[in-house]
Amino acid sequence: MVKLTGYKKVKAAVFISGTGSNLKSLIKFSKKKKSPISIDLIISNNPKAKGLRLGKINKIKRKVYNFKKKYKTENQILSDLKEHKIKIICLAGFMKVLSRNFITKFRGKILNIHPSLLPKYKGLNTHQRVLVNNEKYSGCTVHLVNSKLDSGKIVLQKKVKISKNETMNSLAEKVLIQEHKLYPKAILKVFNL
Ligand code: GAR
Repeated sequence: MVKLTGYKKVKAAVFISGTGSNLKSLIKFSKKKKSPISIDLIISNNPKAKGLRLGKINKIKRKVYNFKKKYKTENQILSDLKEHKIKIICLAGFMKVLSRNFITKFRGKILNIHPSLLPKYKGLNTHQRVLVNNEKYSGCTVHLVNSKLDSGKIVLQKKVKISKNETMNSLAEKVLIQEHKLYPKAILKVFNL
């Protein structure tokens, strides 16, 4: 899907809004020889996102935008991406919905991780809805981003079994452990590796 030219890693930007545990796993992965990407930019809509600290520790450039004027913000981000020669975007717990205009400019080059087995449970509060519906399984999905929320082509999924006394927190934790493994695998798959 995405072509790797020569031996140079493709520059990626990771968009976050919170803790950044997926960012952490992506940074770790990106440093491996077998990784087709390097992480060169972190974008956040939240100045208090804990994940921004990871950027600082790993000396990755960070940019924070408040998204009050979405169109203007997205254009600024597009120019940041251009300036840093970013070719692929990984959304990792990024809680803003990108516009069709933005997505078109990076068509097929934006990945997202979602904490459910899509197409089930798109949107927010996935774990809560899964438990209310007494599902036997949940999981996580890495997909390409299109202009419909959580609806782009699925790259990879991982299923987890829901235990008897599962709570929202225990399920979130269980799914997150799988997310950290799934995102790097999905990146390798996108690059046909
Ligand atoms: C993850 O579970 C991710 O799948 C989810 O937010 C969490 C972020 O955790 N994303 C969404 O719900 C997107 N709609 P992290 O900040 O520790 O990576």
